[in-house]
Amino acid sequence: MEIKRLEDKFGRPLQDLRISVTDRCNFRCSYCMPREIFGKDYVFMPKDQLLNFEEIERIARIFVQLGVKKIRLTGGEPLLRRDLPELIGKLNAIDGLEDIGLTTNAVLLGKMAKDLKAAGLKRVNVSLDALNDEVFHSINDTAVPTKVVLKGIDKAIEAGLGVKVNMVVKKGMNDQEIVPMAKYFKDKGITLRYIEFMDVGQSNGWDFSQVITKKEIHNELSKYFELSPVDPDYLGEVAKRYNYAGTKSEVGFITSVSESFCSTCTRARLSADGKFFTCLFAVEGLDLKEIIRSSVTDKELTEAIVPTWEKRTDRYSDERTEETVKNRKKIEMSYIGG
Ligand code: GTP
Ligand code: 5AD
Ligand code: SF4
Ligand code: SF4
Repeated sequence: MEIKRLEDKFGRPLQDLRISVTDRCNFRCSYCMPREIFGKDYVFMPKDQLLNFEEIERIARIFVQLGVKKIRLTGGEPLLRRDLPELIGKLNAIDGLEDIGLTTNAVLLGKMAKDLKAAGLKRVNVSLDALNDEVFHSINDTAVPTKVVLKGIDKAIEAGLGVKVNMVVKKGMNDQEIVPMAKYFKDKGITLRYIEFMDVGQSNGWDFSQVITKKEIHNELSKYFELSPVDPDYLGEVAKRYNYAGTKSEVGFITSVSESFCSTCTRARLSADGKFFTCLFAVEGLDLKEIIRSSVTDKELTEAIVPTWEKRTDRYSDERTEETVKNRKKIEMSYIGG
């Protein structure tokens, strides 16, 4: 198979594809899908607008031919998509694809971990913002206890999946959970990554004063642990990683706000309804669903994708200003896929 290496205007190759399989979620995290906006009357994507598995596989195959090595399934909550292992099996059969991951809130992971692994999934990143149930509920506005998520994590490990945990940190939301989360996951040997609260979408009321930066979290952790930096595993790694002295455990920071990483960003995104975005903060995407549903050849589909990446100049987090935060019509994270 011929792999054509694609580069954007800043020389960044196309290496990762994040595929959102649904815009729905069983949580209502205040920083992502606040219930005031994503309530009973919110209109989600109609089923016939979602790419079916054959369409996703076809698009993914073309992206792999253009250099993508890693695919990550996202949402919304990807485990809500019916028969997801079937899609993973199809993606796993794509020649040249090296890694398939999934980002999930893990409510359904306990039940599904074995089937996901058997289908070819390699890794899961589990979103968990607190160990304390009250704090957890106040963030995601559901009655699910944290033990369900922790059980999901254990089941994923038992099934042989790689597991990391993502914790979005926001001032006044879960500051007090920073250290307990570090202790719990350090002892388990699971990498915890602290994510700076980002101004994605239009509905989370983001303000810089609510961001707890990597520096602040690192300072707090340094009161309890000795941390030493670890070299990135590959160019464009999203998290900055540290090792807990005397252990094999690591902790990471995703610093989109305080130390942006656009210069090495190799990620494309595909929404559940088939739009191809070149940045998490994009305002528009290329409608690949419309293109594939008009019976094009693979060559024509490739010819639609290539110029979009080659023209890419996105570097939103490098350029973030009060003006962009306020006025840019950004797409919701649950739509574009985290
Ligand atoms: P790994 O392959 O395990 O490193 O996955 P990942 O960290 O790329 O994916 P994950 O879904 O766990 O994302 C963790 C956090 O990083 C989420 O909040 C994402 O929105 C954020 N993130 C991932 N890619 C980008 C990016 O390109 N830009 C920005 N600003 N944030 C990103
Ligand atoms: N800022 C930072 N991270 C966010 N996520 C969702 N919304 C935001 C936000 N506004 C995280 C989720 C999940 C990942 C895909 O993105 O918690 O771990
Ligand atoms: Fe759902 Fe994840 Fe968004 Fe929370 S952050 S509402 S779990 S998609
Ligand atoms: Fe990539 Fe856009 Fe994130 Fe920058 S802000 S790292 S260009 S997705």
